[in-house]
Amino acid sequence: MSLTRFIKDLLRKPESIPTPGAIFYNATVAKVLRKPETKIANDIVAKMGKGTILDLGSGPGHLSIEIARRSPGLQVYGIDLSRQMGKIARRHAKGVDNVRFVFGNAAKLPFKDNSIDLVISTGASHHWKAPRLVFDECYRVLKTGKEAWIYDGCPEVFHNPADRRKLNEEYGFFVGRLGPRVSTLHGFTREEYQTVIKDVLEQTAFKDNYQMALTDIWMKITLKKRK
Ligand SMILES: C[S@@+](CC[C@H](N)C(=O)[O-])C[C@H]1O[C@@H](n2cnc3c(N)ncnc32)[C@H](O)[C@@H]1O
Repeated sequence: MSLTRFIKDLLRKPESIPTPGAIFYNATVAKVLRKPETKIANDIVAKMGKGTILDLGSGPGHLSIEIARRSPGLQVYGIDLSRQMGKIARRHAKGVDNVRFVFGNAAKLPFKDNSIDLVISTGASHHWKAPRLVFDECYRVLKTGKEAWIYDGCPEVFHNPADRRKLNEEYGFFVGRLGPRVSTLHGFTREEYQTVIKDVLEQTAFKDNYQMALTDIWMKITLKKRK
């Protein structure tokens, strides 16, 4: 087993980030991700003015809060298995009324069937112990014709030197220089997306309705609940 694989497996072990990890993540990685997540928030509010959004593994909550702050017509829910992350997110959300953070597992969502207009997730799917159940839950809670946008790391984003330079200029040293290593450990390789994740998706109701694309610093999986 390679050292990278060993560290990757070790990091994936706790599905929920333990308290010290949550505090560390909030003070470091979450800050670095704010710019790219603001871009996602902008894309979402440009597309949706009202409705309900659910953020799986919302962590310190920045993405959910950015969306809610920009678009008061939206109701945003963040769900996370770490109580400490929920606490941090609620602290960050002070004064923003249309966002709520709940404790729970993305594999068993406390939301009604056909109740959500958009499911989102950033940097969390590599933690999921039961991805098939999470995708099934996305399908159940989404309204017909609506989508889930699942973003996570993929080192191939950084392979082209021109793209890497652009990301370095846009997001600075931590993304440009450390991004390849961080996304190797916190995400999947393109090959893993095209084999392991694809195999899981093929077993779900999203079977013929998903796409994967490298976008900005992420691999984005778009799942659509067919009409
Ligand atoms: C790396 S953090 C990403 C947080 C945030 N989305 C961001 O972009 O900064 C992953 C989060 O997913 C949460 N998580 C992992 N598996 C989960 C699951 N099955 N259900 C809910 N939350 C989960 C972890 O507790 C952690 O807070």
